[in-house]
Amino acid sequence: MDHLCGKAILASGFHMMERGRVDVLDQALILIGEDGAILSVLRPDDVSYAEEKSRREAQGALVSLPDGCYLLPGLVDLHVHAPQYPQLGSALDVPLEVWLQQHTFPLEARYADASFARRSYGLLVRDLLAHGTTTALYFATIHQEATRILADICLEAGQRALIGKVAMDNADECPAFYRDASPDEAIRGTEELIGYIRSHPANAAALVKPVVTPRFIPSCTDATLEGLGALARQCGCHVQTHCSESDWEHGYVLARHGITDTDSLDRFGLLGRHTVLAHATLITAGNMATIRSRGSGIAHCPLSNAYFSSAVFPLRAALDKGLHVGLGSDISGGPSASLFDNMRSALMVARMLELGVDPELGPDARSRHAGARVDFRDAFYCATAGGGIALDLPVGQFAPGYQFDAMAIDTRVERGTIRLWDDLDQGETILQKIIYTASKPNIAKVWVGGRQVS
Ligand code: GUN
Ligand code: FE
Repeated sequence: MDHLCGKAILASGFHMMERGRVDVLDQALILIGEDGAILSVLRPDDVSYAEEKSRREAQGALVSLPDGCYLLPGLVDLHVHAPQYPQLGSALDVPLEVWLQQHTFPLEARYADASFARRSYGLLVRDLLAHGTTTALYFATIHQEATRILADICLEAGQRALIGKVAMDNADECPAFYRDASPDEAIRGTEELIGYIRSHPANAAALVKPVVTPRFIPSCTDATLEGLGALARQCGCHVQTHCSESDWEHGYVLARHGITDTDSLDRFGLLGRHTVLAHATLITAGNMATIRSRGSGIAHCPLSNAYFSSAVFPLRAALDKGLHVGLGSDISGGPSASLFDNMRSALMVARMLELGVDPELGPDARSRHAGARVDFRDAFYCATAGGGIALDLPVGQFAPGYQFDAMAIDTRVERGTIRLWDDLDQGETILQKIIYTASKPNIAKVWVGGRQVS
């Protein structure tokens, strides 16, 4: 294993520090501190480059990426339901409300069994790391023990993770076999998980963070939403929930609270700088303005939305308005653990939003969303820097002070799916091909905080 803490890596690669501009690294020398943070990124024309390179080399503290390998930031998955991994790729043919009751709640209830949790969560975390996901924002289940096991596994495997015990106590929407018994139980369970994660002996560097996690408004009572809003303010934790995902869900909140999800969550004090809203497909222009003013983030889950949402999230508009948007796999609403698949899905659905999808309409009537497309840079930005900004964590970029969370993409591996042509592919085109065609065999190595984890 190539642990890079206290060492340097010599690599070509790509990252983005601002939307729209890819920074191409050509034989850059990245110096990494003992704590896994980047000390500096030196280019061949920097004055200290040659000296640092030979000094590190002499110390045996220089790792070089081979030709054909490119360094990318580790990917940030802003929305994962960890317990749903066993049903990845199944149960995709029913609407959200049926899927939850018939498939998802019964599966999540099985995490009362700690050994099942250990097996399932161990597989998920290893697989996500192998897919290049170095930071994951997880919904767990209502269970204390299983959720603690997920935190333990992330710490052992070295994945940066934000983990929430799911709060869901509304007896009208949650089955008796899978719900918190009361608002008190939902809130106390959340507090207990925060205590466990924050005082974990293996978590001194806060690699794993606790998250206040009301599942979504339909599954929570007002007392729970209010209590969790107060708790979020008091503990300063991240907050995650689902927002305006489908017509049914959006309509349910309008009927119960008389306002949209965004406004209701805001009223409960659940919209802050450290909040991530999953989906937000049906948000209004007013909702977008509110989310922006609170500094909250959005987890865009394009693959999941194709199955469970009623519309395409207007990614381009949200980015143009300056909202913090990252990508989410929404395992298992989205049937892929790969954020590369989700980058490609984001590109495709934005195109379909722009073009329209009804072949019976003429070109002028087919779409009302001219200019809705995004390009590979926006998709890459969302999966890396954008996700880091949404979480307000120093990840997703190669810059001093940021964590060395990264992956090496091997573009030459025979069993992989990237095919470069020396006389055609240079600079950003190589990144474009990586985004459109990379698969798991191309992900040669993965590091979190300088530690090799896959
Ligand atoms: N809304 C409430 N729970 C869920 C879930 O598990 N997945 C999705 N996609 N939406 C939800
Ligand atoms: Fe979800």
